[in-house]
Amino acid sequence: MAPMTRGRAKNPGIIPTEMQAVYYGQRASAGLIISEGTWISKEAIGFINVPGIYSEEQVKGWKAINDIVHQKGGRIFLQLGHAGVLSHPHHLDGELPLGPSPINPLTKSYTAQGLQETVTPREMSHEDIRRTLSDYRNAAQNARHGGFDGIEIHVQHPSILSQFLSNALNKRTDQYGGTMGNKTRFLLEVLDTVMTVWDSKSVSVRITPYLSYAQPGETPDDCENTYRFVAQELNKYNLAFLHIVDRPEPGLSPEEHKARKIFETFRKIYKGTIMANGGFTLKTANQLLDDGYADIISFGTLYISNPDLVERFRMNASLNEADPATFFIGDDNGYIDYPALSLSEHYA
Ligand SMILES: Cc1cc2nc3c(=O)[nH]c(=O)nc-3n(C[C@H](O)[C@H](O)[C@H](O)COP(=O)(O)O)c2cc1C
Repeated sequence: MAPMTRGRAKNPGIIPTEMQAVYYGQRASAGLIISEGTWISKEAIGFINVPGIYSEEQVKGWKAINDIVHQKGGRIFLQLGHAGVLSHPHHLDGELPLGPSPINPLTKSYTAQGLQETVTPREMSHEDIRRTLSDYRNAAQNARHGGFDGIEIHVQHPSILSQFLSNALNKRTDQYGGTMGNKTRFLLEVLDTVMTVWDSKSVSVRITPYLSYAQPGETPDDCENTYRFVAQELNKYNLAFLHIVDRPEPGLSPEEHKARKIFETFRKIYKGTIMANGGFTLKTANQLLDDGYADIISFGTLYISNPDLVERFRMNASLNEADPATFFIGDDNGYIDYPALSLSEHYA
């Protein structure tokens, strides 16, 4: 099950709730669940009602979720996130969001006061970078205490780590900007840091190679070159898997995008296990596995409306439709009320 922000931690401490334990428990038959992106610290926040993993109460909330998933025979990784420039002062007690450079991403951030235009962030000092590394370490440690089976480092849009990799957003002239090696430095430092807490085989990285910010200074080719370099660097780590997301590229037609053959391309570069994601059905997933371009497929939206997706796939049963209106906001409806197959459907 792919990571999905669902905006249901509706309490001042953004503590995972009992309702979330029901939600994840219902989906425990997925071979592996990757949790919704979860804030590593207060200053990492960039969206409302998304849980964190930096307070004791949050760790307890996650522990209750993980106990249920484990009781039902499931496994779960925690996705560690930091919104960086895609935050807003409303999330940060009036402070500016942090970013690689003072460049406004010119998008919107969903706050308690509704959608807000993003602002020009504050360029991270070396002290900010050191503190953020320490936050990643702390979050990784908390994930262990909370009973997770591993962690995933969120490096796709919207993550501070992808912002450091972006030509449009990173204009730094120090050792974190300029060359590809420099722009990748922060990500690799994060990996080195979390691997002081977790064995590399319990750590994954999630990238979206072709999703650029579509801003001046960033082309689809830039993105591809950057992430080719990143995948090459990741060969040096013995990761659990590299999670690659296929998302349409701004600036390219669907045909041009398809011609890039993302999984075939990255299979040649990355030598470890690849988890593929992005619009798969049972048929296209099996096709990609048969072609040998990935080892594992993750499903996102299909899991929103089909808690028993594995059973449904196994039986070739029909699938429930998901309601996008309740994807990111709402209560139990559109969250824990999608039905599993009934007994009669099982034996039909
Ligand atoms: C409601 C929703 C929330 C998402 N939240 C996250 C997230 O927190 N972290 C992440 O890496 N991807 C997130 N994604 C992206 C999904 O993991 C996945 O890449 C995307 O839905 C495409 O896969 P699919 O076609 O199987 O749904 C989210 C997607 C949806 C629909």
